[in-house]
Amino acid sequence: MSRIGLPPGGSNIGAVPAQVAGGRPWVDHWLETCRDLSALKASHPMMDAVVDGVDGRMIRVGDNWLADFASCNYLGFDLDREIIDAVPAYLEAWGTHPSWSRLLGSPVLYEQIEDRLTALLGSEDSLVLPTITHIHMSVIPLLAASGTIFLDSRAHKTIYDGCQVARARGAAIRRFRFEDPDHLDELLRAERDPTRLICMDGVNSMTGNAPDVRAFAQVAREHGALLYVDDAHGFGVIGERGPGETCPYGMRGNSVVRHFGESYDNVVLVGGFSKSYSSLLAFIACPTDVKDLLKVAASPYLYSGPSPVASLATVLEGFDVNERRGDDLRRTLFERTERVLDALAVLGVMTPNRSGLPIVEVPLRDHRRIGDVGQLLFDRGVYVTLAAYPLVPKHEVGFRIQVTAANTDAEIDMLISALGELAARDELRLAGDADGRLEQAA
Ligand SMILES: Cc1ncc(COP(=O)(O)O)c(C=O)c1O
Repeated sequence: MSRIGLPPGGSNIGAVPAQVAGGRPWVDHWLETCRDLSALKASHPMMDAVVDGVDGRMIRVGDNWLADFASCNYLGFDLDREIIDAVPAYLEAWGTHPSWSRLLGSPVLYEQIEDRLTALLGSEDSLVLPTITHIHMSVIPLLAASGTIFLDSRAHKTIYDGCQVARARGAAIRRFRFEDPDHLDELLRAERDPTRLICMDGVNSMTGNAPDVRAFAQVAREHGALLYVDDAHGFGVIGERGPGETCPYGMRGNSVVRHFGESYDNVVLVGGFSKSYSSLLAFIACPTDVKDLLKVAASPYLYSGPSPVASLATVLEGFDVNERRGDDLRRTLFERTERVLDALAVLGVMTPNRSGLPIVEVPLRDHRRIGDVGQLLFDRGVYVTLAAYPLVPKHEVGFRIQVTAANTDAEIDMLISALGELAARDELRLAGDADGRLEQAA
């Protein structure tokens, strides 16, 4: 049986509803909603793939070696010899897994991580928990209480889910338009509720752009609201600007608040180590009294199992590598990404990326072509994230390229050549295409 309880051979979702109609109301609705994605998952080699091996940023799926442009390991720490070699000593000292919930007891490694993280971010304090999802689901309901949440209309699904938990506990939700601080201002002006929480992404996981944090923070402060920002993709990639920077991403990878030269007044920053730091851990940067509150009120601190020791080790070692070589890696990342963006510009192909950050979404001219386009990329040895409906609205169906510092120039060449072929076949939207303005479509 497959995971959702279909009979063997029943993974062609198109055939399923008739078979089960009326029989399983708890699942029929979802089978119908996820029909396109399920069909793609069942038939496409670039979905739900089993990766049989890796060699640098090349991955093997069955007999096929492919250049991986679906990895969030932006700095290449997953492959960094210095970090890999440092892990066994931590395992010798601590075993593989502490297993206490954090309230019960935390290896001193946690204290070391929080101290170093707080210093890197320049925040008042910070608390780490296993994942960002844990944080959203537990912290958003606490901060929102029975007040009002102002939710970015394109917020990441995990933020949205955290807001739904808050709503179940009495919070109200209002949605503001993507990248539109004026609309947020309007909604806040009209709101009487004194408890106001604004939830939004930092660097957007699809467009690759960062919001104008300065403008949003200003609106938040003007209206006595707390701005809660999830910068899963920005942490490690962008950071404070200054004369020593090696590229426009800025220095130290200390995230979107510092990148915009903002303070943490009325701002709470959430981020994770599972992308740039190639580890399983996440954080919230917040005032100490909020941290103390979370230690007694956020369920994952009280009840969840902790991150494995290898994750704590790779975070600590990652801090060292970031300090010594991070800015060089960010320059490499910037240059590799620039090659991809320049190639798209020469082809006249549309992408919402205007930031130069390493997330490059490429929408299709016809959403129904997603399977064939993905197959061509796969056949040319290029592995990307397929953004199928209902993961994205139909007019945004396409694929997402993620570049990492560990991708070689030869891999970028393969990617650019495949993009050229897709453009020549008229599969991609063109820049300036009226339908192509994804962000306005939100
Ligand atoms: C913006 C954003 N937030 C949260 C998450 C989930 O992070 P985690 O795996 O730490 O729960 C992701 C994962 O892709 C993400 O892109």
